[in-house]
Amino acid sequence: MQNFRQITDNLYNVGANDRRITMFENAHPVPRGMSYNSYLLLDEKTVLLDGVDNAIIEQFWQNMTAVLNGRNLDYLVINHIEPDHCHPIPELLRRYPGLTIVGNKKTFTMLEQFYDVNLEGRTLEVIEGDILQTGKHNLTFFMAPMVHWPEVMVTYDTTSKILFSADAFGTFGATDGRMYADQYKFEEEYLPEVRRYYANIIGKYGRNVNMLFDKLANLEISMFCTLHGPIWRKDLHLILDKYKQWASYTPEERGVVIAYGTIYGNTALVAEILANKLADGGEKTVKVYDVTSSDPSYILSDCFRYDRLVFASATFNAELFPYMETLLLDLKAHNLTNRTVALIENGSWAISSGKRMREILEQMKGINLLEQTLTFKSSPKGADVEAIEELAKTLLAA
Ligand code: FEO
Repeated sequence: MQNFRQITDNLYNVGANDRRITMFENAHPVPRGMSYNSYLLLDEKTVLLDGVDNAIIEQFWQNMTAVLNGRNLDYLVINHIEPDHCHPIPELLRRYPGLTIVGNKKTFTMLEQFYDVNLEGRTLEVIEGDILQTGKHNLTFFMAPMVHWPEVMVTYDTTSKILFSADAFGTFGATDGRMYADQYKFEEEYLPEVRRYYANIIGKYGRNVNMLFDKLANLEISMFCTLHGPIWRKDLHLILDKYKQWASYTPEERGVVIAYGTIYGNTALVAEILANKLADGGEKTVKVYDVTSSDPSYILSDCFRYDRLVFASATFNAELFPYMETLLLDLKAHNLTNRTVALIENGSWAISSGKRMREILEQMKGINLLEQTLTFKSSPKGADVEAIEELAKTLLAA
């Protein structure tokens, strides 16, 4: 049974939701599932813009068959070759013998790496600014390397003014009937997961996001049709402004993230005391995470949101507590910068967690790492509480 959505008089979303998925990219928890959008344009030529993930493939075929209603598919535009958008490609080539695949040089290199397909005579290679006329619509292609993979491009329809933005403006979470972003409460329902998606999926590539925005600056855009989540048709500046902040690694607001790695609860106690001191000192937002029980994707997301970060870790096997190491390497991999960072270390002998945390953080550009690591042995005592108070004052003043 088909279950497609109509967007304009001749544009349809033939994608669907997957609520069974637990980990997107087998790396990031998605408790609310994922959506995979795939856009089918019925012009004089028929054009599919990106495909879907394997998980929803049967729904995709039902939707394609219903919307095409006996017509052939003329073009498949691949804005992004990552497999969550490309599972149907081999079967599309079989079902539609006249199908031409539109992509750039890198698209086709990776397409043949992922899929055993014969592309001879089936491709149209495009470069920056090329236009594909499909009848009433003119599709213009802009390269968007590293937003999120090197082959990514976006497609702008000069007739409808719609930008097919690939992963950009996407979000974790399935849609729940509402297919437009303006149907969600931006701050409560939409922003937390679009921020977590941005930080984890695209966060590493802020410079490339800005390069794309420079290219698009003079375009009149009516909609962002993203590959994940609701479509933007109103108040596009809301998500654009957030993207510009995130891409420049500018904190959205003041607040302290405290992430601790604890074995028997003593490092946790220090983190909790610090949180109390900060709140008592007037800090409006303090977020405390146990790195063992909190997925790094959520902590990373808050590190993109707030301006000051504290990492408190036990020493473990004479090294850094492994969950803390994973978190810090994740932050480093995502190029986080422009943050003030304080360190707290604990151990009962051969304390070394602070040294290792510092080694990782010193490899990150633009991190204002407080010189003094707060060190305590085994469990906090009176003198440690005084030192925690001092650290709270420093953070409040930062
Ligand atoms: Fe939704 Fe980078 O794939």
